[in-house]
Amino acid sequence: MKTLVVVGLQWGDEGKGKCVDVLSEGFDIVVRFQGGSNAGHTVKIDKEIHKFRLMPTGAVRGKTVVIGNGVVVDPVVLLEEIGQLKEAGLEPDLVLSDRAHVITPLHVQIDSLQEEEKGKGRVGTTKRGIGPTYADKANRIGIRICDIVDSDSGALEHFFEISSRRMARLHDSEPSVGVIELRKTLLKMIDQEGVRVCDSGEFIQEAILSNRRVLFEGAQGALLDMDHGTYPFVTSSNCVASAASTGTGVPMLLLDSVMGICKAYTTRVGEGPFPTEIDGEAGDAIRERGHEFGTVTGRPRRCGWLDLVALRYAVRVNGAKLLAITKLDVLTNLRPLKVCIAYDLDGIETRTLPASAIAYSQAKPIFEELDGWEQPEKPWREVAEAGMESIPEEMREYLRFIEKQTSAEVAMISIGPDRSETVIMPKARKFLFNGD
Ligand code: IMP
Ligand code: MG
Repeated sequence: MKTLVVVGLQWGDEGKGKCVDVLSEGFDIVVRFQGGSNAGHTVKIDKEIHKFRLMPTGAVRGKTVVIGNGVVVDPVVLLEEIGQLKEAGLEPDLVLSDRAHVITPLHVQIDSLQEEEKGKGRVGTTKRGIGPTYADKANRIGIRICDIVDSDSGALEHFFEISSRRMARLHDSEPSVGVIELRKTLLKMIDQEGVRVCDSGEFIQEAILSNRRVLFEGAQGALLDMDHGTYPFVTSSNCVASAASTGTGVPMLLLDSVMGICKAYTTRVGEGPFPTEIDGEAGDAIRERGHEFGTVTGRPRRCGWLDLVALRYAVRVNGAKLLAITKLDVLTNLRPLKVCIAYDLDGIETRTLPASAIAYSQAKPIFEELDGWEQPEKPWREVAEAGMESIPEEMREYLRFIEKQTSAEVAMISIGPDRSETVIMPKARKFLFNGD
């Protein structure tokens, strides 16, 4: 196994940042392939906490990182995160796709304006300009990194003119920056030391051919995927594993394996159906203990029980054979634990997700109860050091139940935010780190 795609199986915030950080030890290159600075990836190493919105997480370990063509790049955020790395004494080695689209302040403004206009039908976006940038990409007026490199192309001026006119006409508003200022920021981004602009597909393929190991780091999650998620309450990119191919230019047959990340319970930020959502005490307890507040927006996340119907669906659309189950420690002392195994849809027991958001919002969860676990005598860090044998039996049972329901294999668990609070199954360790 030379390449691994790591994706979220829920509505984002599954703990991908931490898992990618742990796994990236065994890889040479870490690649982002979709989304933009709507993501929030947190890595905790002892007392150090690194938070990235755009930069691939592998940068913390000094790996070569790639931002593929499928990502939308906000230069202001990228500059900030390059600065953040340098401050931590790390030299970024970043490959930036010449085909990636650029988020401008105009897109950020339009994101907010559109949400206001939608009123009750709003999506609850992160207001980072993600949707409007992907829309301009599809409308074929977007600006790409190559347009900045070739400043004589006139693409930036063309975009600015069309966009300003549209803002005036549709939103009775005007751009907060001028085209000259915009170009200055864009040029500053590509002129940074340690940043290379090239064809990400060619770069990654050559690396794979010379036996380097590549990890593809997904953002958001399957249920926020534009095609497979709970439309219209979704993000504006494909976040499933197959996007690792289109979002980088690496052929799909070079993608060897898919690992899906899933929290031991469920959270969602923003609007949209959420059948296992808990109103009340247990939900508040999970939110507090799990620090379930948005990394990007600070919004409190909606919390609910593990939804195995949604998880089975996400495992299927991603083709995930391996699972990482995160934040198990948060469920400690919550007894019994509920897990949703089917939905009641108009009196009919259903085991998959309806396409329509209206139908989905009426789905009632059918729960099964499992014994929860108590806090072991040792702290979680020591439990992790001692390996799988030392985790509570009820937790092991919880994991077996997930495996049975999804037909995927738990390869890794996380029982705390720190790198050290992770257990990797011995069989998976060999495969993940040595490529056997
Ligand atoms: P957008 O991606 O900013 O357009 O937001 C669309 C929806 O996706 C909103 O419900 C956001 O809260 C959600 N979303 C986007 N990125 C993330 C993420 O990284 N984690 C969790 N939710 C996200
Ligand atoms: Mg996040």
